[in-house]
Amino acid sequence: MTDDVLIVHGGTPLQGQIRVRGAKNLVSKAMVAALLGESPSRLYDVPRIRDVEVVSGLLELHGVKVTAGAEDGELVMDPTNVESASTDEINVHAGSSRIPILLCGPLLHRLGHAFIPDLGGCHIGPRPIDFHIQSLREFGAVVDKTPEGMHLSAPNGLHGAKLELPYPSVGATEQVLLTAVRAEGVTELRNAAIEPEIMDLICILQKMGAIITVHTDRVIEIQGVPRLYGYEHKPIPDRIEAASWAAAALATRGEIEVLGARQADMMTFLNVFRSIGGELKITDDRVARDGITGAQGGIKFWHPGGELKAVALETDVHPGFMTDWQQPLVVALTQAHGISIMHETVYEQRLGYTEALNTMGATIQVYRDCLGGTPCRFGRRNFMHSAVIAGPSKLHAADLRIPDLRAGFAHLIAALAAEGTSRVYGVDLIKRGYEDFEAKLAALGAHVERP
Ligand code: EPZ
Repeated sequence: MTDDVLIVHGGTPLQGQIRVRGAKNLVSKAMVAALLGESPSRLYDVPRIRDVEVVSGLLELHGVKVTAGAEDGELVMDPTNVESASTDEINVHAGSSRIPILLCGPLLHRLGHAFIPDLGGCHIGPRPIDFHIQSLREFGAVVDKTPEGMHLSAPNGLHGAKLELPYPSVGATEQVLLTAVRAEGVTELRNAAIEPEIMDLICILQKMGAIITVHTDRVIEIQGVPRLYGYEHKPIPDRIEAASWAAAALATRGEIEVLGARQADMMTFLNVFRSIGGELKITDDRVARDGITGAQGGIKFWHPGGELKAVALETDVHPGFMTDWQQPLVVALTQAHGISIMHETVYEQRLGYTEALNTMGATIQVYRDCLGGTPCRFGRRNFMHSAVIAGPSKLHAADLRIPDLRAGFAHLIAALAAEGTSRVYGVDLIKRGYEDFEAKLAALGAHVERP
């Protein structure tokens, strides 16, 4: 498809300011939460990305009125007339996102039944949904898996349960929250994920009338309530997008101020960025400090010149180094002096994109072993989940095909850092999670064009 190609003339440092809005991985869940309310919800700072369109489509199919509010980025969702959708209509969304699985609890509460199409999302491993199904069954849902999707019902209602996740899965924790808030009785979830996006979802649910306590040691307790109402909420900023631009600044020897980025959500990333030799300045309290109306702070990231240092890292659940920060940062690590190690412990197959970087001149070797950190679930199981990156490497232009969202952005950074003209195919996939990325690239002085 020729219109899905970006021509990148690399080798220019990216310089300037861009802004990130509400986090993709919160906004989509916040939209699902709106289904649980008996009155309209209002979400601010919603980015224009494909995932938001998909969830809007799904909500509309179920009778939720989704409209733009008066403010730029404001979304109003009115769930007063929730209704069933036909499986054919829902199936139009099959394969487009992982979010439909989170509609299970809300639809069971609102309609007594639900149909969930085959899931999509990035191809970064098998991405099973067993934790979701097991939890739903423990709440009392009857789950019938068919080749076309999943039919769910709750003939005896949904009841609070004592649950423990085998791994602190983000999606499964959200599934439990969105189901337990209106289930009868108390739910205790052990080994829950505690990512900032989950804490923000809990804030939204509390605004809606839910009673949720976050205890120490990954234990969340939810006291079910009979009804919930609409919310008004400004989501946390997108810390994955912010880190992606930070990595782009480092890899291209540039300077990018990411307006809207927030220190508290990114502390682990900031420590790593600084250890590599990147410089940063936090300006996210500028408005509060200076009282400048209309001013917005963020975090400024830059390459100070000189050599970058190699690091050994492993991805982990929060508060560890996010798996979604991994791919853009590896591109920057190809420019560091020495041997870096990246041990991916969240997904078993999230290093495939390094092959393309090697064709551009990088020296990255992937291994089955758990290198450089604590042994993980994937050790000795034949998964190529550790990467050794030898740098610095001079990157040269290449023709690339984008495999998934974050790896796609990593490829784009590599093309921007490389000397010469690259053609990046499948680039529209980046629109799933990065708002206006071409306009942002232009604002940062990148030389990119459509054919
Ligand atoms: C969310 O995916 C994000 N997606 C991902 O971001 C992110 O990488 C991931 O959390 C980890 O932070 C959204 O929020 C839409 P998980 P999710 O359940 O919830 C295993 C991006 O690019 N697992 O925490 O699907 C699973 O296979 C995307 O924005 C089971 O085994 O991730 C994985 O190894 C990519 N069974 C691990 O848990 C299950 O039932 C963590 O997955 C569920 C998960």
